[in-house]
Amino acid sequence: MAGSSDVDLPAWAPLAALAAFVSAALFFWLDPLGSGEKTPEPPRIEAAYYDATPVRPLKSGLMTEGTPCGQCHDSMTPPDEDPRKQGTFHKQIVLHHGMNVRCFNCHNREKRDFFIAYGGEPIPYSQVETLCAKCHGPHYRDWKNGAHGRRSGYWNTAMGERKTLVCIGCHDPHWPVFKPLHATPAPRALRTTAAATDER
Ligand code: HEC
Ligand code: HEC
Ligand code: HEC
Ligand code: HEC
Repeated sequence: MAGSSDVDLPAWAPLAALAAFVSAALFFWLDPLGSGEKTPEPPRIEAAYYDATPVRPLKSGLMTEGTPCGQCHDSMTPPDEDPRKQGTFHKQIVLHHGMNVRCFNCHNREKRDFFIAYGGEPIPYSQVETLCAKCHGPHYRDWKNGAHGRRSGYWNTAMGERKTLVCIGCHDPHWPVFKPLHATPAPRALRTTAAATDER
C-alpha cells in the first residue's frame, strides 16, 4: 500500500510490551532489592485535638453535684444582703468576673433554681444567654447574629438544623475569661522526612 512505511511488528509484540510493563511494576512495587527509600509514617496528632465537643459540658439544669439548687434553698431563708462571699458550703465557687462580684447579680435570691432578670423575673437555665445579655448586650447581639460563638449544622435551615452553642458552653460564668488552652501542633504538610518529624 502506498505511504505505508510502518514497520511490521510481530503479532506477539503487544503481549511482550504488557509483560514487560507488569514485571517492571511488580519490581518497583515489591522492591525486592530493598533499595527504595521508605517514607516514614508521620506521627499521629492526638485524637483530643480533633475533639469538637464544647469546652464546658452542659448540664440539664441549674444544679450542684447533681442536686438542684431549690432542693436545699427552697427551705432556707435567703439572706437580706447580696453576698460577695459564698460561705463555706459553696467554697469551690471562685468568682473572678471583673466588677461583677455579687452572687445575686445572676442567681435568684428567692427562687434559687433560676437566674434573675433586671426586673426581678426568673430566668430559666434553658435561657441562660438572656442572663448574660443583661450586661453584655453587644456580645449577645453578635452571638445572635452568628458572629460570636460557634455555629455548626446547616446554614440553610431548609436542609437541616442550625446549631448554636450557648454562652456557658464556652465561658465559665464565675470565671469567664479563658484559661490558657493548648494549641494544636502546626500542620505537617510536606514535612514527612525523618529529619523534619524529628525536630518536633
Ligand atoms: C446540698 C444543699 C445545697 C444545694 C444543692 C445548693 N446550696 Fe447554696 N447553699 C447551701 C447552704 C447550706 C448555704 C449557706 C451557706 C454557707 O454560708 O456556707 C448556701 C449558700 C448559698 C449562697 C449564698 C447566699 C445564701 O443564700 O446564703 C448562694 C448564692 C447559693 N448558695 C447558691 C446556690 C446555687 C445557685 C445552687 C444551685 C446551683 C445551690 N446554691 C445549691 C446549700 C446548698
Ligand atoms: C455572672 C453570673 C453569675 C454570678 C455572679 C454567680 N453565678 Fe453561680 N452560676 C452562674 C451560672 C450561669 C451557672 C450555671 C453554670 C453551668 O451549669 O455550667 C452557675 C452555677 C452555680 C453553681 C452550680 C455549679 C457548681 O459548680 O456547683 C453554684 C453552686 C453557684 N453558681 C453559686 C454561686 C455563688 C455562691 C455565687 C457568688 C459567690 C455565684 N454563683 C455567682 C452564674 C453566676
Ligand atoms: C451583672 C452584670 C453581668 C452579668 C449578668 C454577666 N456579666 Fe460578664 N462581665 C461583667 C463585668 C462588669 C465584667 C468585667 C468587665 C471588665 O472588667 O472590663 C464582665 C466580664 C466578662 C468577660 C470577660 C471580658 C474581659 O475582657 O475581661 C466575659 C467573657 C464575660 N463577662 C462573660 C459573661 C457570660 C458568659 C455571662 C453569662 C453567664 C456574663 N458574663 C454575665 C458583668 C456581667
Ligand atoms: C464557641 C465558644 C463561645 C461562645 C458560645 C461564646 N463565647 Fe464569648 N468568647 C469566646 C472566646 C474564645 C473569646 C475570646 C477569648 C477571651 O477573651 O477569653 C470570647 C470573648 C468574650 C467576651 C470578652 C470579649 C473581650 O473583648 O475581651 C465576652 C464579654 C463574651 N465573650 C461574652 C459572651 C456571651 C455573652 C456569649 C453568649 C451570648 C458568648 N460569649 C458565647 C468564646 C465563646
